[in-house]
Amino acid sequence: MNFHFTRESLDKTIADLVFVVTFQKDSEKPVAATLQQNDGGQGLDKLLEGQITQAIKAQEFNGKEGESLLIHSLEKIKAKNILIIGAGLQKKFSLETIRRIGGKVAQISNGIKAQSVGCVVEQTKIKGLTTAERLQAFVEGCVLANYSFDYYKDKQKRTPKTFKAIHFQTKGNTALLAKACTTAETFAQAANFTRDLTNSPPNDLTPTALAKAALALAKEHRNISCRVLGLKEIKAQKMGGLLAVTKGSSEPPQFIHLTYKPGQKSRAKVALIGKGITFDSGGLNIKTREIELMKLDMAGAGTVLGVFKALATSKPKVHVEGFIASCENMPSGNAVRPGDIITTRAGTTVEVINTDAEGRLVLADALDYACESKPTYMIDMATLTGGAAYAVGELITPILGNDKGLIGRLINAGKKTGEPAWELPLYQNYKKGYLKGPADLKNSGSGSKASTICGALFLEGFAKKNKWVHMDIASTAWADEPNSYHTMVGATGNPVRTILYFLMDL
Ligand code: BES
Ligand code: ZN
Ligand code: ZN
Repeated sequence: MNFHFTRESLDKTIADLVFVVTFQKDSEKPVAATLQQNDGGQGLDKLLEGQITQAIKAQEFNGKEGESLLIHSLEKIKAKNILIIGAGLQKKFSLETIRRIGGKVAQISNGIKAQSVGCVVEQTKIKGLTTAERLQAFVEGCVLANYSFDYYKDKQKRTPKTFKAIHFQTKGNTALLAKACTTAETFAQAANFTRDLTNSPPNDLTPTALAKAALALAKEHRNISCRVLGLKEIKAQKMGGLLAVTKGSSEPPQFIHLTYKPGQKSRAKVALIGKGITFDSGGLNIKTREIELMKLDMAGAGTVLGVFKALATSKPKVHVEGFIASCENMPSGNAVRPGDIITTRAGTTVEVINTDAEGRLVLADALDYACESKPTYMIDMATLTGGAAYAVGELITPILGNDKGLIGRLINAGKKTGEPAWELPLYQNYKKGYLKGPADLKNSGSGSKASTICGALFLEGFAKKNKWVHMDIASTAWADEPNSYHTMVGATGNPVRTILYFLMDL
């Protein structure tokens, strides 16, 4: 995306489209929207002899969120089209509103094959939001909405993304605003990279392919290094969880260790741990529902890789270590059986009750390995339980952990990015059932229906005394319902941007 800053008024902006934003009137009855004072809309209306106001009235455009009105400028200004966008009620205006506007602008631009858009950026704060914050959200929305996954389609049938330039009219500090734009682009592209990995079919995105993607990142960026452990090294590490899950698969497992070190002295060390099951058939407890969706089971690993991609260029002053345990979960004559007792890297024995509760087995080893880097904070991300969708739905990520400060920071970061997270309790009573079998732990069958809490309770001990949180992204890593900036069914890239905001703020 190209960003341009100009002082010239909107009518002189050379772009395919200029847009202005209108709020919905604070009233019960639908009322035709009026153009705002500060974003150039009134000026354009004058040049077009009231044509915009007329269109607003005639088409009953109320400025509701998601509403838009496209008007041809009839060459009365430099731009070909004028787009009026509804922002909803002013009192509800937030960064998320702006992100959605960005998404809408990108969608409409691509729809009419526009390459460039122009708009006015107000210098003053709006509802406490600075110009840079607003611009960042807008660009994030644009770049996220510009995403599509059509590499597997016939070239002719792919949806071309024409939109590639934004002209901002501003009197403000352009260096600061340009920085906000590039940060936004880096973060959204990182999320899009994660979406590519998660959307990729499991016959192509194998554990080996995931490891290759990690090694490629390290090759591309001097501040990132990567070490991949293959089957032999995984055995030497006694990663009994990962070894048990991979047994039924003919693809070799991979354990990926990424490191990002800042140039300056680092403020903290953060370990990011990702579940990297490239396909979860359930194993011998084979899935009977949504099995075709289970390529998404490496979304946690994809998140780690997406974050690292952005770290390389946005360079926060924190040391970040990434750990990914990757394999397939398949049934076969060699597969782990329900009833098997395995020994994890930490030495804890686990009776495998359900081979479909495989994420916790591979994460147990990854968390144990990550503890050795003595991190200030540990964050694991995993599509761990289908129950996450029942606990808090499709738009909220359940977050659980042993440190209120860390949980609070991540929830706050999620508020800024539009990726909300909600804390669930690590209610210890639900753990009792895990302790009843012949081994130290059972991997399932705790006796509670709170599967998301139980999944986290299983992991808790493997984080030892470290400050740790678990984000169960089973319901938020994938969108069945498109929205303004996640315009297609598929991977969302959630919570890449949240982790990045968190790291930049540390
Ligand atoms: N990968 C699944 C969880 C999942 C389900 C992710 C739906 C995304 C959408 C996980 O490995 C799993 O199968 N979990 C089981 C655990 C149970 C057997 C304790 C579940 O949630 O049912
Ligand atoms: Zn499973
Ligand atoms: Zn799984």
